[in-house]
Amino acid sequence: MGGQICRDERMVPPSALADAPRSGGEPAIKDPVKDTILTPRFYTTDFDEMAAMDLRPNEEELEAICEEFRKDYNRHHFVRNADFDGAADKLDPETRRVFVEFLEQSCTSEFSGFLLYKELSRRIKTRNPLLAECFAHMARDEARHAGFLNKAMGDFGVQLDLGFLTANKAYTFFKPKFIFYATYLSEKIGYWRYIAIYRHLEKNPDSKIFPIFNFFENWCQDENRHGDFFDALMKAQPSSVRGLQARLWCRFFLLAVFATMYVRDVARKEFYEALGLDARTYDKYVIAKTNETSARVFPVVLNVDHPRFYVRLERIVANNDRLSAADSSDAPAPLKLLRKLPFWGANALEMAKLFLTAPIPSDQYQPAIR
Ligand SMILES: [Fe+2]
Ligand SMILES: [Fe+2]
Repeated sequence: MGGQICRDERMVPPSALADAPRSGGEPAIKDPVKDTILTPRFYTTDFDEMAAMDLRPNEEELEAICEEFRKDYNRHHFVRNADFDGAADKLDPETRRVFVEFLEQSCTSEFSGFLLYKELSRRIKTRNPLLAECFAHMARDEARHAGFLNKAMGDFGVQLDLGFLTANKAYTFFKPKFIFYATYLSEKIGYWRYIAIYRHLEKNPDSKIFPIFNFFENWCQDENRHGDFFDALMKAQPSSVRGLQARLWCRFFLLAVFATMYVRDVARKEFYEALGLDARTYDKYVIAKTNETSARVFPVVLNVDHPRFYVRLERIVANNDRLSAADSSDAPAPLKLLRKLPFWGANALEMAKLFLTAPIPSDQYQPAIR
């Protein structure tokens, strides 16, 4: 196992994260939500292996991406304007609740990216300067995103204590190639999530319940560039996406990311309803697009059009409802556990069946864009 990312005050972006304008007094510091399989994770990796990476097989493309990062297109984008004044007060209590949840989860996952990229850039700075510089630029973007979201939370009278989160969240260790799969997917799915909401609200301005959505178009371009960086990095390390093992792992990560998002978004469908979106339709679109994009670099992608794909995901959704019901009952802990076991088993079975469904080789999937 590599070292854990330590708490380092320098890593917390400047006061941007703490001094939100607010209506009526100091915002309360919100306790982070309990960690579950559905909450965003914090990652750490093997920094020595990352530092030793030979980028020569795709150095030109990585250099070009770094040049794009240097331009810092969104330097002046994340500036709060008068639209935010009083906007939070216009939301009804239920919409407020689901919206704050959305902000918190987005802020945590942006911040998780910031921590990982910042730590990577710091640890490999002298040994792999090009990679270190790319990570530093991405950390800059993620700090902006997290800070902007945290300020929006401030409008609702709550904020995340990101320093506390840094020191107290559990870090998941992944070897570099797994970091590539996980972060590539989270950047690309982030891109599709933000752009889908943005385009929907462009057509339905009445559903724009909060001015933060006006910022999504340029914002998602940051995520798209980050995803392209990991695409180029995997191409610089071709062994990371070749061979039987890589094919199995890519399937695993695609499934884990899609299933987690689907289950979480359906459970939070009120948020999407508030925006005039149907959570299931929205997720199906985001999954199809992310799967299609992933075919540019992953050797295989999932057959998300398989007739059983969403049938199985829906079973997991239903099982999770029963698990939550068991959790919130007054039964003693051992009894709760007994009640939950069959649903855990059923979920594991559905995931196994989903995993074993024949994937689509990427070269057969989208010959036009490869
Ligand atoms: Fe981001
Ligand atoms: Fe990103």
